Amino acid sequence: MLGLQLPLLVVCAYQLLPGGQSRIIGYSNGFHYQDISNGDGNGEIFFNGIRLHVESPQPSVSATRGSSVTLPCRYRYEPELSMPRRTRVKWSWLPANTITTSLSPEALTRETEVMVAMGNRHRSYGSFRGRVRLRRSAPGDLSLVINELQLNDTGRYRCEVIDGLEDDSATVELELNGVVFPYYSQKGRYHFNFFGAQQACQDQDATLATFEQLFVAWEEGLDWCNAGWLADGTVQYPITVPRDGCGGLQLAPGLRSYGQQHRFLNRYDAFCFSASVKGAVYFLKHPTKLNFTEAVQACARDGSQIAKVGQMYSAWKLMGLDRCDAGWLADGSVRYPITHARANCGPPQTGVRSFGFPPLYQKFGVYCYR
Ligand SMILES: *[C@@H]1O[C@H](CO)[C@@H](O)[C@H](O)[C@H]1NC(C)=O
Ligand SMILES: *[C@@H]1O[C@H](CO)[C@@H](O)[C@H](O)[C@H]1NC(C)=O
Repeated sequence: MLGLQLPLLVVCAYQLLPGGQSRIIGYSNGFHYQDISNGDGNGEIFFNGIRLHVESPQPSVSATRGSSVTLPCRYRYEPELSMPRRTRVKWSWLPANTITTSLSPEALTRETEVMVAMGNRHRSYGSFRGRVRLRRSAPGDLSLVINELQLNDTGRYRCEVIDGLEDDSATVELELNGVVFPYYSQKGRYHFNFFGAQQACQDQDATLATFEQLFVAWEEGLDWCNAGWLADGTVQYPITVPRDGCGGLQLAPGLRSYGQQHRFLNRYDAFCFSASVKGAVYFLKHPTKLNFTEAVQACARDGSQIAKVGQMYSAWKLMGLDRCDAGWLADGSVRYPITHARANCGPPQTGVRSFGFPPLYQKFGVYCYR
């Protein structure tokens, strides 16, 4: 007796013969391929011991809103094949807002299709239609090119190759360079349910932040003692200096989480995420200060629009906008961006300073966006 036990894989497949009868091909060679279409009709298996590998050289990629990005992925056979084989390629996607902090098995089933390709034919789906293609710059290259990146394209992408019975996949995380900002309603603190928070961010040219985005913002120093919705339906807030009233002194710095909250009934602020804008935000040169109505009109007369809060934060974070003059923004708030803290321009940290929502008749400058 051999002291060695080989794992045996027994697979049976039905092959339809021209006569319409089916015949059972049984084999037990312990290898990975069962290839009926390429066989000689006698049920011979051609691909003994060959394995398919799908891999991505880069587990995560970060990009800029509005630009194009390439998510790297390639496949190969081991040992190498001399003849190309017909494969099916599928890119699917788990949007960042469905990647919850507690990884549930159900999250996997929430992946949706981005693109399917077979040979030269391919099809893209949903909001990716017409925006994606395979790069195919070398044999085995299945990298996905996405054009016109949108704020909500972030998440985990899966590249899958299906070859007969064998398939393998790899994942790539897509992140956007951007900025997280806390946002509350003109009507007051803790006013938004989840859907209101989603809308409020969108109105400010932003989207609800993901857990990862808030985490990065916290690492960069964001400290905010008001709880806000995140894209995954949890409510959290970032604390860098533990203190009473903000989770207490016993808790280490970090994100404080209230977990999943009721999306209709519970009300909080929002954490929004915005990323680089194509246009520019500028402080309008104007001889006098303006009330809110006049401010909106003055930007229009200048051929632009009053800036949104997300645009202001992007300009501050990504373009270094620095101006020590308070100005109206589109939501009726008054703010100014500081990248070089100095005397008489607020606290010693950099940031976008806010005067909240003053009465609309009060007079300030205005920030426009073009
Ligand atoms: C993503 O954002 C775009 C543009 O804001 C919007 O048209 C699209 O419906 C959004 N997609 C999803 C899946 O939310
Ligand atoms: C702003 O001032 C104009 C007059 O220049 C006035 O008609 C308008 O009602 C004022 N708007 C507000 C919100 O006070």
